[in-house]
Amino acid sequence: MKPKTVAAERAPSRRPIVVANWKMYLTTAEAADRVDQLLAEQVPKSVDVVICPSATALATVGKRLMSTSIQLGAQDVFWAAPGPHTGEVSAADLRSLSVRFVLVGHSEHRASAHEHNDIVHRKAVAALGHGLTPIVCVGESREDRHQHRHHHVIAQQLDAAIRNLPPPHEQQELLVAYEPLWAIGTGQPATAADAQEMADVVQRSLLEVFGPDIVARRTRVLYGGSVTPANVGQFVDGQSVHGVLVGTAGRPAASLASIVRAVAGR
Ligand code: PGA
Repeated sequence: MKPKTVAAERAPSRRPIVVANWKMYLTTAEAADRVDQLLAEQVPKSVDVVICPSATALATVGKRLMSTSIQLGAQDVFWAAPGPHTGEVSAADLRSLSVRFVLVGHSEHRASAHEHNDIVHRKAVAALGHGLTPIVCVGESREDRHQHRHHHVIAQQLDAAIRNLPPPHEQQELLVAYEPLWAIGTGQPATAADAQEMADVVQRSLLEVFGPDIVARRTRVLYGGSVTPANVGQFVDGQSVHGVLVGTAGRPAASLASIVRAVAGR
């Protein structure tokens, strides 16, 4: 049974959001073309749409998105202030490129950079401190789920990432993407019931840290993992799950546009 606090504090009016994570698939020129194709699709404005290209494509993509309703996101940020950190990208620099959102703790990055919860926390702090909206990614492995410890793993990852975080300011939010590792890039999404159950686990942690007012006004919860135009409608219920984080099906412009239309029409 779902605890009362979560159901009671849900905000019915939170805008739906679709975040496309283009990972390391596209060159800057390809990303620019993809944006042009997406703009030609004229996606509905009732859904927030965020494109996260590679760091090298941010400036080019950002210019194309200027004066459109589509927003720019980055795939990672370094936590420290500008200084001697070879190969890293600062939150201040992202901000200077009109980036609004930034993924932190995506499972692929956690794995490739051996990134622990503590680093994810620092990145969320850096993002919030520079006016960016962090999208904190959490997800359990197949093994965790088989061992029935998925609730615990998600609560732990999220608590470590958001404990003692300052609340997001005006124009800022904290987004959390629940992305089970076994669903990412596998063509095997979670069920809608599982996604919504885990989104409620996320909401409980958010409520504990920020309280009902901030949670209702400045947080949204996303589901990610093998989302497609055909299945997206079942995930976004506007209550537990407010949007989606999309990899594979978010790269072709027509597919991404279909996802946005499906979310708008749900
Ligand atoms: P997928 O990727 O949609 O290809 O499963 C999701 C993600 O990694 O964010």
